[in-house]
Amino acid sequence: MKTYGKVIVVTGAGSGIGKELVLQLLKKDASVAAVDLNPVSLNELVAIASNGRLATFVCDISQRTEVEHLSEKVLEHFGAVDGIINNAGIIQPFVKVNDLSFETIEKVMQVNFYGSLYMIKTFLPHLLTRSEGHIVNISSMGGFLPVPGQSVYGASKAALKLLTEGLYAELLDTHVRVTIVFPGAIDTNIVQNSGVEMEKPDPSTMLSATAAAQQIIDAMGKNKFRSLVGKDAQFLDRIYRLMPKQAVHMITRKMKGLLRNS
Ligand SMILES: NC(=O)c1ccc[n+]([C@@H]2O[C@H](COP(=O)([O-])OP(=O)(O)OC[C@H]3O[C@@H](n4cnc5c(N)ncnc54)[C@H](O)[C@@H]3O)[C@@H](O)[C@H]2O)c1
Repeated sequence: MKTYGKVIVVTGAGSGIGKELVLQLLKKDASVAAVDLNPVSLNELVAIASNGRLATFVCDISQRTEVEHLSEKVLEHFGAVDGIINNAGIIQPFVKVNDLSFETIEKVMQVNFYGSLYMIKTFLPHLLTRSEGHIVNISSMGGFLPVPGQSVYGASKAALKLLTEGLYAELLDTHVRVTIVFPGAIDTNIVQNSGVEMEKPDPSTMLSATAAAQQIIDAMGKNKFRSLVGKDAQFLDRIYRLMPKQAVHMITRKMKGLLRNS
């Protein structure tokens, strides 16, 4: 769906890819409902964007009732919604499943999978009434390829991938298009925002959030089924499909330094 003149809801809008999505959508004359857990980052967004087509909403997407209230508030403000970009997400600490608490496991699933599902289930009935609508879900290259130390994060993103692909099929004969996005390594503050302690990877090895957001909006505009954002995601997608076992060994060697051993 082309975003010009449309109303788009972006979750995780206060930082990283989400913030860039908001800024670029506004430049393309869309109206944007910017949603985040963090009110401070939303205020900072308003300070840099200051645009009559921008409205911010504090909401924890992992809470179903909060998402239901969110949809009421967004519809009250804009009158309609044409698209949602489920971008909010968190990573897990870089530890093995054996060392991961159920509390953390449930939180990661709750934000990355259920949060996106609550958004979809809440906004879809309205999107189906529009002449066109679009749902974009941000998974991860970790959603198709296992990364040791991020196994539950990967599982949450793989669940989102399958949910999205199922939705794509179910909505084929409607006016609602569906896109799944697999970013590779993107230069954002996701590590700190997720409360994870580790050294920040070298930014020169990562794609900028600006470039990632550009590619996501482009994929939306072209009604793409799937979008691999970054050379790393494109390369690993190919390798994993050709040689899954070798790809797992390769990524395990690469991630060895990051994985905390118990
Ligand atoms: N950065 C990467 O390398 C990378 C790679 C692959 C996929 N992704 C995915 O891209 C998306 C955006 O990540 P980012 O790197 O821009 O992260 P980020 O931490 O910079 O931004 C994420 C935003 O989501 C918000 N958020 C977190 N939990 C929330 C909740 N429960 N309700 C509402 N908002 C919440 C945070 O406050 C933050 O502003 C995530 O889904 C992430 O998993 C990122």
